[in-house]
Amino acid sequence: MSEKFLEGRVALVTGAGSGFGREMAIAFASKGANLVLNDINLESIEETREIILKTYNVEMLLAKTDISDFNQVKEMRKKVFEKFDNLFLLVNNAGVREGTFSLVTKEEVYNKVMDVNVKGAWNVTKAFYRKMSKQDFKPIAGKIINIASCAGTECGVNPYIGIYSVSKAALIAFTKLWALELGSSNIAVNAICPGLFLTPMYKNNPEFIREFMRRRNVKLPIDRIGESKQVADVALFLASPASDYITGHNIILDGGMTISVNSL
Ligand SMILES: NC(=O)c1ccc[n+]([C@@H]2O[C@H](COP(=O)([O-])OP(=O)(O)OC[C@H]3O[C@@H](n4cnc5c(N)ncnc54)[C@H](O)[C@@H]3O)[C@@H](O)[C@H]2O)c1
Repeated sequence: MSEKFLEGRVALVTGAGSGFGREMAIAFASKGANLVLNDINLESIEETREIILKTYNVEMLLAKTDISDFNQVKEMRKKVFEKFDNLFLLVNNAGVREGTFSLVTKEEVYNKVMDVNVKGAWNVTKAFYRKMSKQDFKPIAGKIINIASCAGTECGVNPYIGIYSVSKAALIAFTKLWALELGSSNIAVNAICPGLFLTPMYKNNPEFIREFMRRRNVKLPIDRIGESKQVADVALFLASPASDYITGHNIILDGGMTISVNSL
């Protein structure tokens, strides 16, 4: 595998202004990718761009877009193809984590979480898959990575973040569905399910995460809180030729949390 296996290829990362999104954008740049940095917050992607430019000389487009709004997503697509001639890698990463028990969650919270985490990924995928399928990259024309969550897996469904759990279960279902729908177009679709990681989503605060674990009596067989770089490394694997025959899968990255829930 060449050191710069993403050279000549464009990667779009939603939610690239923070946490995993920023770390993945840096990782893709390190392999030569040109980047579309999307976020709803412009300053945050300007900062990501500055960080990347300190080390890597890649082309970047900043897209301040609310992915839950399809009109804005179509506008982003227009700008992407005015600047670049391909989109090899689409990472549906942007997400929000709000709400508690599902049956007492307010409708506006339900709508926000589902609109960003599920409809947002659907919007962006809908906007880009046709062009991705017509690209000349071989053997895989394009790749989609969905950043779901252990909270959406069978052993991880979490009542403390009920609607978030449901949204991530839907994203895992979309991963399998899109792998089926897009396989014949040579697009591979996979998901990553992180467990508990230190990012702004968890206030960058290990104690906040430990408290979250105590409440559910969760113990980690590998007793360390995750770091964004570990997610970026798995995303790099999924973006690389080493994973070209993998589609419709969901890589759980949680220090063993989901196998330990209810059993330790
Ligand atoms: N941190 C964890 O432990 C953890 C665990 C499992 C899954 N995840 C998932 O990983 C992804 C990234 O999480 P993170 O921890 O880096 O979170 P984060 O809050 O640090 O980053 C999320 C980014 O998404 C952006 N965003 C929010 N709404 C948007 C919208 N409508 N349009 C465009 N951008 C929008 C935010 O501005 C932010 O920059 C999320 O989907 C999250 O659910 C995180």
